[in-house]
Formats: sequence, C-alpha cells, structure tokens
Amino acid sequence: MTSAHTDLAPVTVRVPAKVNLELLVGPLRADGYHSLSTVFQAVSLYDDITVAEADDWGCTVAGPLSHGVPTDGSNLAVRAAQVLAAHVGIDDPVHLSIRKSIPVAGGMAGGSADAAAALVACDRLWGLGLSKDELEAVGADLGSDVPFLVAGGTAVGSGRGERLAPVLARGTFHWVFALGSEGLSTPAVYAECDRLRGDAEIPEPTPSPGLMGALRTGNARELAAHLRNDLQPAALSLRPDLGDVLAAGVEYGALGGIVSGSGPTVAFLVDGIEAGIDLAIALTASGVVGDVRRALGPVHGAHVIPHPVD
Ligand code: C5P
Repeated sequence: MTSAHTDLAPVTVRVPAKVNLELLVGPLRADGYHSLSTVFQAVSLYDDITVAEADDWGCTVAGPLSHGVPTDGSNLAVRAAQVLAAHVGIDDPVHLSIRKSIPVAGGMAGGSADAAAALVACDRLWGLGLSKDELEAVGADLGSDVPFLVAGGTAVGSGRGERLAPVLARGTFHWVFALGSEGLSTPAVYAECDRLRGDAEIPEPTPSPGLMGALRTGNARELAAHLRNDLQPAALSLRPDLGDVLAAGVEYGALGGIVSGSGPTVAFLVDGIEAGIDLAIALTASGVVGDVRRALGPVHGAHVIPHPVD
C-alpha cells in the first residue's frame, strides 16, 4: 500500500435518488439475489457527500432525513471509500460528511447513492482519474443499485440490477414522492415477494416494449400507464396503508402511482410543475401522507460540485 497525498482540498459530490419505472422480478438465483429487469430513472432528490483526508476512516451524517443511518464501518459510503482505496492500493483514510435528503430505507437507493458518491468523491480527492465504467464496476460489489447512481439518467438494469444499458428517453418527467414514516427492509420485501409467489414458475424478465416506447416519446401519460413494480404487492402486504396513499394520489390528480423500489416511498407521476404542487398540497392536507417531496427526472448521476460554504 502507498500513501498517496497530503493536504488535499475536500471534495463534495452530489448524488441523486432513483425510482424504478419498471421493476420486473425474476427467479431467485443461487446467490440469494433475484434476477431483475428494471428501468431506473435518477431523480432530483440529492444527498451531498464531502470527503476529506483524516487520521481514521469515519463519517458523520446530517440533514432532515439522517435518522437511522449508521456512522460506523457498516456505513455503505465508508465501505465504498475503503473498497476503492484497496482497489487502487491507497492507504489514506478519509472522513465522509453526509448530508441526507434522500429517504433512508425508502426504496430510493439512499445507501447505494451515498456509496456511489463516495466512489466519485474519492476518485477526485486521490486524483485517480478512473472512468465511470471502472467506478461502476467497483460499485457493483457494494450494492445492486450503486452502478446506476454513478451513471444517472435513465437506464435498464439486468442481472441483479447492476448490469446497465442506457435507454433513449426524451424530455423531463415530474414526480411527487410520498415518504413513509418508517423504512422497509429490502431483503424483507424480496422475501415477502417470494412468499406471495409460492411455487409459481417465474420466467426470466425482459424490459417491456410499451415502457420503452413511452420513454422514447416523452409522453408522461403514456409512461404512467406503463409503470410497473413486481415488489409492490409485497410492499403492500407488509404495509397495507400504502394502498390508501396510492389511491389518494390518483384521486388528487396523479397520472399514475407506484411503490418506489422496495418501498415504502410511493412515487406519483404528474403532468408538470403546477400539477406537482397541487398534488403535494392535496396529499399533505389529506393527512394520509406525512411528508412529500417534488422532483424531476432524469438527472445526472453522482457528480462533483463546488465545496459548500457552511
Ligand atoms: O444489492 P443490495 O445490497 O442492494 O441488495 C439488498 C438485498 O435485496 C439483498 O440482500 C437481497 O435480499 C435483495 N435483492 C434481491 N435481488 C436483487 C437485488 C436485491 O433479492 N436483484
């Protein structure tokens, strides 16, 4: 191992959340993962991660949605920095300051986003100059969603979600996210999906032509008609109240609604900024939803930003 540098300026990276426009869950694989065909879209809810040289590895977590994030070595962003250091043979600990605005355990890949941000930030801090492809390859071992949060935009994920292919998507889509009051465990939701399926024979999934067509046209109404999440029945089974949230969103004007990833965040597609504001107000006033966020997609993946002044 080599110690690379000293007195490096801290680096801040902004990383988006994701929503799955389509999440088709295939059979359970021998390694415990399910084969997937998914279409990811990066959306404008962001965590900011600053990495700085330090005597020891560690992190601090701040922001309105920071509750429940580990600050020890089990934090995925710290592990990502350590994995990258080992990958390139660097022995320089860093401290990560994580400012969270992506819901924790919410089905929007908050942990994977922080890992992706840590990879991009350490790459810059250490002057490695690795390509996005290389960073995505390092990220794939850390979590199925990490490569997509490095890439951003709109992409098809296959394998366990980590193998990416870009998708031709036109225009910008407007989203309203209803946040759950308590997170859901991703493994628990997959296990519930298996339980609900029982012994049914599950085919290998492939992206649906209808969704791909809707993305090519950029028509939000068409996209709304093709939103699909195979984990939704499992999330609703574990959290039946999410059914009320989905119904309320559509009643108050959403073009379509879907549980985001493994939930419990519910994603509503709307017909523009005004419709998004109206829906956010109506959902909040209804009392069915505690907290809402508006966002746009697609947006760029993890990227360096000027260091914020505190
Ligand atoms: O890859 P990641 O660590 O994000 O996955 C978290 C958990 O979600 C896995 O341990 C597994 O239980 C479940 N999972 C799955 N199939 C996938 C992705 C995740 O069963 N393709």
